[in-house]
Amino acid sequence: MRSKQRRFNAKGLGKTKMSVRKAAAKLRIGMLGAAALLGMSAVQALAAGDVQAGKAQSIVCSSCHGQDGASAIDPSYPQLAGQNERYLARQLKMFQSGERDVALMTAQLIGKSKQDLDDLAAYYASLPAKAAEAIGSDAEIALAQRIYKGGIAEKGVAACSSCHGPNGAGNAQAGFPRVSGQSSAYTAAQLIAYREGNRKSDEVFGGMMRGVSKGLSDREIVALSDYISGLN
Ligand code: HEC
Ligand code: HEC
Repeated sequence: MRSKQRRFNAKGLGKTKMSVRKAAAKLRIGMLGAAALLGMSAVQALAAGDVQAGKAQSIVCSSCHGQDGASAIDPSYPQLAGQNERYLARQLKMFQSGERDVALMTAQLIGKSKQDLDDLAAYYASLPAKAAEAIGSDAEIALAQRIYKGGIAEKGVAACSSCHGPNGAGNAQAGFPRVSGQSSAYTAAQLIAYREGNRKSDEVFGGMMRGVSKGLSDREIVALSDYISGLN
């Protein structure tokens, strides 16, 4: 039964506003955690962009990502609205350099300066995120919630909430992405890409998403992606 529409309020999940260092200790990901801290200082060097200058460049982007950055023409394309600026700026730079290897996105960024990319990131970060409905059976939801909040210790899967937040809003300062409200098809594709080693854009964070996704089965990925799409 995949027809049930659900919305989640994760307030009951408890306050997980711990520092990355504490989170790393808790997750026993010593090396990964240390790499995350290094990654953060590199990420912190990013300059802030200009929202209006970003908006002026966004017309071409809206043909795929939607006028509001949250109504993509294809359900497998990501929402950008409300994503944090640090994360967006990093992804745009990695698409441009090919470090995040997606030819379709690389082609959109030819000739753009670092400032252009920062401006685009600032613009999309300034737009309001759009909430979505979660889909999935009761059993799927229960499975996903268990993994999101607690991970899977025996498979070395860390709890998603420790980095992406109890309600999936991410961590803007650390540049950890918002995952809530994201298209389920996009999230599933990314988790598979990390797991198969095809997405390596987490290198600066010590490969933490490749590590996390390694232990996830296809079924767990689908359940998590459906669940996250309606988390708020
Ligand atoms: C032809 C369609 C198309 C156009 C035009 C386009 N994009 Fe994309 N964009 C995509 C697709 C598809 C993806 C997902 C790539 C993947 O599979 O990882 C994506 C991914 C992204 C991401 C990564 C989001 C995340 O959560 O990691 C960002 C940021 C982005 N696009 C920004 C832009 C900007 C800014 C522009 C305009 C300069 C733009 N896109 C133009 C199709 C497009
Ligand atoms: C130790 C911290 C950490 C944990 C735990 C973690 N993530 Fe992540 N996640 C990240 C970081 C950092 C990124 C961005 C990496 C990059 O730039 O590719 C990310 C990226 C993602 C993305 C890609 C977002 C996008 O817009 O493309 C998804 C989806 C995701 N994580 C889901 C999950 C799920 C589901 C779990 C739990 C099974 C999880 N994460 C656990 C830190 C974490």
